[in-house]
Amino acid sequence: MSLARMIQSAMVWLVASFYGSIMLVIMTLSAIRRGPRAFFGYKVRQDRPKCLDDPDLGTHGYVRLESSGLRFHYVAAGERDKPLMLCLHGFPECWYSWRHQLKEFRNSYRVVAPDLRGYGETESPQPFGYRGWPNFSMPHLTNDVRELIAALGYSSCTLVAHDWGGMVAWNFAIDHPDLVDKLIVMNIPHPGIFAKYLTTHFSQFRRSWYMFLFQLPWLPETLVKSFDFEMITDTFKGKEMGCRCSDAITDEDIEAFKYTFARPGANISGAINYYRASRKTPPRSYRGMKVTCPTLMIWGDQDGALEVGLTEGTDKFVPDFTLKVVPGASHWVQQDQPEVVIGIMRDWLKE
Ligand SMILES: *[C@@H]1O[C@H](CO)[C@@H](O)[C@H](O)[C@H]1NC(C)=O
Ligand SMILES: *[C@@H]1O[C@H](CO)[C@@H](O)[C@H](O)[C@H]1NC(C)=O
Repeated sequence: MSLARMIQSAMVWLVASFYGSIMLVIMTLSAIRRGPRAFFGYKVRQDRPKCLDDPDLGTHGYVRLESSGLRFHYVAAGERDKPLMLCLHGFPECWYSWRHQLKEFRNSYRVVAPDLRGYGETESPQPFGYRGWPNFSMPHLTNDVRELIAALGYSSCTLVAHDWGGMVAWNFAIDHPDLVDKLIVMNIPHPGIFAKYLTTHFSQFRRSWYMFLFQLPWLPETLVKSFDFEMITDTFKGKEMGCRCSDAITDEDIEAFKYTFARPGANISGAINYYRASRKTPPRSYRGMKVTCPTLMIWGDQDGALEVGLTEGTDKFVPDFTLKVVPGASHWVQQDQPEVVIGIMRDWLKE
């Protein structure tokens, strides 16, 4: 490890410990105030909430990928002879984040929305828990996408992605230009922009506090589970994430996301290990790496976690680049303003 990497790691641990200590105090106080039973007690969801079995959204499918041996779960709509639209969700979500796209684009595409590695009904690699982070590094994640496209019987796709799914999609489009016809990313910056922006914009650094907290073992898992996954409700409904989306995302929708993490045998660590692996593996250089396919970026400008300034300079990495900012939309842009986002997608895909 180089000296620069060591100093950087030390800084990350320092910041992570800072946020961890604050969070520990907050968690202890709320456990005392609302009772340890409420704090530690959470409900294991035995059955899928009804909305996850809505036949209008498509049919559930499973496929075992070759090199990892992991069984992936997905929901698909539209006929098999149509081109593939592959939709990758973010944190802390699941395939259900693409419910509007599954309904809307099924006439012209075979729309497939998988649960990503470690999420929902897709298997998580062993070992579980904090120690499992190496199996969530970017090469594993992009390889899943590559094998998924092949396993679905396609040789390329229109790739649609949000948040963490978007981070995977950016890297995938760079590594496999032949497998991506068009790329649509939502509220996730190009990876070549994020790291630099984080160190030069203190406001973004503050907003990224949870990315540091997630570096710690055990604590993030405990936090996510506490008060029956209250964090998931807060993430979608809370002001921090720029949520005017309290009506667009219903209580039942939130229950669907809770099911991702609270179904029997679920392991929350997988989702958190995405953050751990991305910090612990040496950063990739994106200098001179172009995304060659036409790319559309959709950005809800009320995102509380990622500033709209992160969109600037993307065209340096993407020659054929279109940016559409959705005013008033939160981080959960495709769920928050589904009609607007679908309209933007439809117009751009027609071009
Ligand atoms: C986990 O990582 C190890 C080491 O890189 C690798 O050999 C193994 O195939 C991975 N497992 C999965 C399921 O990705
Ligand atoms: C989830 O992870 C914990 C350890 O963190 C483990 O004890 C448990 O068995 C895992 N659940 C499943 C279904 O593997």
